[in-house]
Amino acid sequence: MRIAVLKETAPGETRVALTPETAKKFIALGATVAVESGAGVSASISDAAYAEAGAEVGSAVETVKGADIVMGVQAPDPVALAGANAGAWIAATFDPFGRRDRVDAYAAEGYEALAMELMPRITRAQSMDVLSSQSNLAGYKAVIAAADVYGRAFPMMMTAAGTVQAAKVFVMGVGVAGLQAIATARRLGAQVSATDVRSATKEQIQSLGAKPVFVENVAGIEGEGSGGYATEMSPEYQKAQAELVSGHIAKQDIVITTALIPGRAAPRLISDAQIATMKPGSVIFDLAVAQGGNVEGSVADQTVEKHGVKIIGYANTPATLAADASALYARNLYNFLSAFWDKDQGKPVLDEEIGDAVRLTRGGQVVSERLKGG
Ligand code: NAI
Repeated sequence: MRIAVLKETAPGETRVALTPETAKKFIALGATVAVESGAGVSASISDAAYAEAGAEVGSAVETVKGADIVMGVQAPDPVALAGANAGAWIAATFDPFGRRDRVDAYAAEGYEALAMELMPRITRAQSMDVLSSQSNLAGYKAVIAAADVYGRAFPMMMTAAGTVQAAKVFVMGVGVAGLQAIATARRLGAQVSATDVRSATKEQIQSLGAKPVFVENVAGIEGEGSGGYATEMSPEYQKAQAELVSGHIAKQDIVITTALIPGRAAPRLISDAQIATMKPGSVIFDLAVAQGGNVEGSVADQTVEKHGVKIIGYANTPATLAADASALYARNLYNFLSAFWDKDQGKPVLDEEIGDAVRLTRGGQVVSERLKGG
C-alpha cells in the first residue's frame, strides 16, 4: 500500500495533507509513504522532517509512481497522477459541485475520488471532518484579521487618559467557524452578539457569553435541514432577517459573516444599503467570500472600502494558518483511512455509510448520489 502526497499547486494553497506525525502513523499501519520534495515547506515542514519520519521524499513523478492512495488538500490535477496504480484512491477536497468537470476527469481516468468535504456529520466521523477542523481555524483568523485593520481596540480599557470602549462584534452564521469567532472575539474583550437560521444555535451563543439576535414569529423559522446544515430560507424569513440585521449592524463595529449552504452559493446577508448604515471605521470580514460572499461588494483577498467600512475576506482563510491547518487536516485524513484499515488486506476498506457519502467516482463512473441528483 503506497500512499503519496504531492505539493499543492493551487494558487495561495500553503497547506499539506501529510505531516511527519501522520507519516509515522501510516507507516506503523504497514503502508509506504512518499511525499514530493518541498510539499511541506509553506507549512513549515522540511523534507528532512518527512524523511526522518520514514517517508520517501522525491520528485512528483517518483512520488506518485505506483501509488494506491494519493492524499491532497485540494484535489490534484488528474494529469499529475499519471503513474499511479489503476483505480487509485484520491482523498482530498474536490469542490465537487463547483468543479464538476474535474470530477468527470477523475472518473474518465478510473480513479476513485473521495471528497473529504462530503464526510457525513455523524458522531463517529467527527475526527475525520475536514470542514470542521478548517472552519474552526478560519473563524479564529477572521476575528484576528478584522481586529488588525480595525483602528480601535477590542477590550474596554480604563486609562488615566480616558476610557476606550469595548468593540461590538456581530457574528452571522454560528456553525463551527462562527462559534470559534464568538469565542475569539470574547477572549479579546469584545461585546459579542450572533445570529443564525438554526434556532438550536441560540443556546450555544449564550453558553459562550454572547447575545443571540434572532428572527421570531416567521413561518419556516426552523432553518435546519439534514445533517445539521442550514436550508435555504423562505422569502418571508429573508425579509424579516434583513430588517432585524439592518437595525442591529448599524450599531456594530465588527461583523463576521460565516453563512454557508452546502452545494449552493452563500446566502447574501448584508447589502450595500446596510453597509451604508454602519459607522465609518467599522470592519466586515466575509468568511464566505470564496463561495460567492455573504456581503455585497466583498472581493477575495482584497480590502474594499465602502461608505467608510472596510470589507475583507480571504479566498482561503485556513491557508493563512498553514502549520495548524495542515496538522489538523492531516490527522483528519489519518483518522479516516486508519478507521477503515483492514489488517488482513493491508489497506482501507470503506463501509457503506461513509464510503457512499464521500465517494465521487469509481470504475469509470460518477457514483455520488449528491452529484447525480444535480
Ligand atoms: P456551514 O459552514 O455549512 O454554515 C455556517 C453557518 O451558517 C451554519 O450554522 C448555518 O446554519 C448558517 N447559515 C446558513 N444560512 C444562514 C443565513 N441565511 N443566516 C444566518 N446564518 C445562516 O456550517 P458548519 O459550520 O459546517 O456546521 C453545520 C452544523 O453541523 C452545525 O450544527 C455543527 O455543529 C454540525 N457539525 C456536526 C459535526 C458532526 O457531528 N460530525 C461536525 C461538524 C459540524
